[in-house]
Amino acid sequence: MYLADAEKAMLDGKHGHSRRKCMELLVSLGEIYDAERLISIRSVHMPGASITGIGEAGLRFVEELEREGTRIPVFATTNPSSMPPAPDQDVGLDAKQIADQTRITKAFDRMGVYTCNSCTPYLIGNSPRPGEHVCWGESSALSYANSVMGARTNREGGPTTLASAITGKTPLWGYHLDKNRAGTLLVKVKKKLRDISAYGTLGYFTGKLAERGVPVFEGIPLDVTDDELKMLAAALASSGAVALFHVVGVTGEAPTRAKAFRGRKVRRVLEYGDSEETSTARSLTKTDRHEVEWVVFGCPHFSISEFRQLAHLLEGKRVHPDVVLWVNTSVPVEHYARRLGYAQVIEAAGAHIVCEVCPCHTPSQAFAQQRGISTIMTNSAKMAHYAAGQFGLLPQYADISRCTQAAIDGKWR
Ligand code: F3S
Repeated sequence: MYLADAEKAMLDGKHGHSRRKCMELLVSLGEIYDAERLISIRSVHMPGASITGIGEAGLRFVEELEREGTRIPVFATTNPSSMPPAPDQDVGLDAKQIADQTRITKAFDRMGVYTCNSCTPYLIGNSPRPGEHVCWGESSALSYANSVMGARTNREGGPTTLASAITGKTPLWGYHLDKNRAGTLLVKVKKKLRDISAYGTLGYFTGKLAERGVPVFEGIPLDVTDDELKMLAAALASSGAVALFHVVGVTGEAPTRAKAFRGRKVRRVLEYGDSEETSTARSLTKTDRHEVEWVVFGCPHFSISEFRQLAHLLEGKRVHPDVVLWVNTSVPVEHYARRLGYAQVIEAAGAHIVCEVCPCHTPSQAFAQQRGISTIMTNSAKMAHYAAGQFGLLPQYADISRCTQAAIDGKWR
């Protein structure tokens, strides 16, 4: 693989031990994938910021980097951590986990990372332009960046995003190259999608069948919202490993079907209608229980328009005393939700706005056990998918209106 002089100097250790280790990792990766060279990146989004994710070994590594004087030369953001900024919010962490999470965030802060701790960094400042090369982890965010924003990233993880943040480089392979961005299957959407979660259901159905492919959606209305695309991206990346999709007439690389496939023949076609939606939505609920215990919105992190919708649904109502309702979001979005009065309406109803985390990054099993909770209700296909697999809670899946009504009644169906 060709390396420029400055890259060789990093590999030779002329810019310190940590840059050398990071360069070794990126060069090895590039050689595995036949990359001809490294490229500079515009931004990084790093998934390894939570103590429940990286553990004590990760904490020690991050602190070692910081002690060595490592500074991040590119704009870098972090995915959700395990701890909300409001210290009185109990998310199931013990005292040691709180101390460790605080150390991780401080070390990243000192290295110059924007520790926004959010899976929607594109809503709060990390918003690359079409064609820009970036290195993003967090499957929902990178799929959104690739597809909706037209940036270019592979499906990266904690170690590679950190290495790219420290060096400002990534190997040129995969979705950084035009030839790999062509659609691989056509999905004909034959039904009207009623709301945001219906896009999650479509994404979940498609992701399972597309696996690592590049789906091209036809039949999605031109006025599809960013929130709907956000939910589509998240679900596609949870049932499958989709990192890039196109929506004909909507996303930048798909003004027409032919352009989305980059002139190649369409070899595989899926149809999505009422029966596919119904069976997929049913498959995401894994319990017959009518009682509702823990309702979670904000997977991916809530936007300001979702806050507006929820405030409308909860205005003058009360969440049932036996139900915990979480809204996960970033601090900047929460700030505006408060300024607009939405946050106050939601909190007056007894719901909790829990910033910078989500149940996949907090000790959810401990949180649930302490409260005798065994189910989780959500409007997110991605959260329903991970609830069962990652923290052993039985998901109940419905749209935001039904979830909210269920939170008020303490029951659904
Ligand atoms: Fe974000 Fe957590 Fe969902 S990281 S996409 S809220 S699983």
